[in-house]
Amino acid sequence: MKNIEYIKEDLKKSIGEKLYIHSINVMNTAVDLASYYNISTEKAKIAGLLHDSGKLLNQNVGNLEHAVYGSKIVANKYEINDTDVINAILYHTTGRENMTMLDKIIYIADKIEPNRKYDGVELLRELAYSNIDKAIIKSLESTFEYLKSKNIEIDSKSITTYEFLKNNIR
Ligand SMILES: [Fe+2]
Ligand SMILES: [Fe+2]
Repeated sequence: MKNIEYIKEDLKKSIGEKLYIHSINVMNTAVDLASYYNISTEKAKIAGLLHDSGKLLNQNVGNLEHAVYGSKIVANKYEINDTDVINAILYHTTGRENMTMLDKIIYIADKIEPNRKYDGVELLRELAYSNIDKAIIKSLESTFEYLKSKNIEIDSKSITTYEFLKNNIR
């Protein structure tokens, strides 16, 4: 893996200041959740920092594609070969069946980082610590509602994630 300071500098140049600040916020939120759930804070740090590395400036990367680009960038450009980290980035917009705790943390940290302001975000912030599966279900439900209101098609991967979580919730 390339040096973390190099990665941060390069990321800032690649995605721009605004998205870089969001990335740092997601990183910090992810580290906090990782320590709360007793998983590797190092993996949470790298995955949080780089989750949007596929949103290259001046390139119109679609919402679903940026996760795929990001997973390639971290592997090729930043020489990160940790599959847990790569998968958390790859699945951060849609989730997947059988999400790992790291996948869940990156998914929800993206939605609740301190700069996020929308109706219901406070509930998600609480749920992220009390029942992270429920937090993801709630978040997916609002995403579905939003997409329906805009007449945008819901991707099948998100629906699979939603159904999987619904069927396996404790
Ligand atoms: Fe993203
Ligand atoms: Fe993000």
